[in-house]
Amino acid sequence: MYQTLLATLEDGIYTVTINRPDKLNALNKQVFTDLDAAIDEIGSNNAIKAAIITGSGAKAFVAGADITEFGGLNKEEAMALAKRGQDVFFKIENSKKPVIAAVNGFALGGGCELAMACHFRLCSENAKFGQPEVNLGLIPGYGGTQRLTQLVGKGKSMELQMTAQLVDANEALQLGLVNHVTTAETLLERTRDILKVIMTKAPVAIGKLIECINVAVINDSSFTNGKTGYDKEVEAFGDCFATEDMKEGTAAFLEKRKANFTGK
Ligand code: COA
Repeated sequence: MYQTLLATLEDGIYTVTINRPDKLNALNKQVFTDLDAAIDEIGSNNAIKAAIITGSGAKAFVAGADITEFGGLNKEEAMALAKRGQDVFFKIENSKKPVIAAVNGFALGGGCELAMACHFRLCSENAKFGQPEVNLGLIPGYGGTQRLTQLVGKGKSMELQMTAQLVDANEALQLGLVNHVTTAETLLERTRDILKVIMTKAPVAIGKLIECINVAVINDSSFTNGKTGYDKEVEAFGDCFATEDMKEGTAAFLEKRKANFTGK
């Protein structure tokens, strides 16, 4: 189904593994084609309730965009490359089903940007994050200038991107770039455990949360047809009231039993 990804579906969780370990899982055109298809699959396959993105091998999540594809690009071609990367990462960010990054090593450049496009991140103790593009005479092109700033604040984002300094797992935790640090052995298990909790909740409500929280960090009303995040929240709150799951959830509370959500 994919040339550069491995994908498994277990207990409703689709685990997508970027599989170019000899190139530290660098993102080439084919990886973007495959990731694009994987996000479509996550959206359309009813058996998939949530997803994990991780990297193959013990060393890297993703060590960046594939630098060998940069050679000879002119300005327009470079802009098209950035736009393509941004579009695929927007699809991840706007997935209605949760997509969590399990960062198992280097997450540099496009790898850090991919992790940041996921809804949140866990990492193993050996993980290293960074936007080292200035070392190449570049800046991030797949959303890094925006998402790193949203996650860690302007001053730290400026410093990290201007110096190309890498941050280790514990600093990433302190900065709020990741939510949890685990051993390499327990990274996927811990990520799955969190997703299993999320999967006991009402799927439509989870999708609405993703939508509203994304609006909170996209500080531009032109992306939301002039609506603020508060407007969006009012609308999404109302949408939840139109679901069977809302009736089930409130009834289950009053009847002192566990809710059985169906996603309707
Ligand atoms: N694009 C293309 N190939 C890459 C790559 C990238 N972003 N990152 C690593 N690779 C390749 C290397 O060229 C090498 O290939 P080779 O065996 O055919 O020579 C292989 O992956 C292993 O990488 P190597 O550099 O030998 O491993 P290392 O342990 O010495 O260093 C890193 C690891 C992550 C520090 C180093 O690979 C690196 O700095 N990568 C680039 C990071 C970067 O600048 N990313 C932003 C890109 S915009």
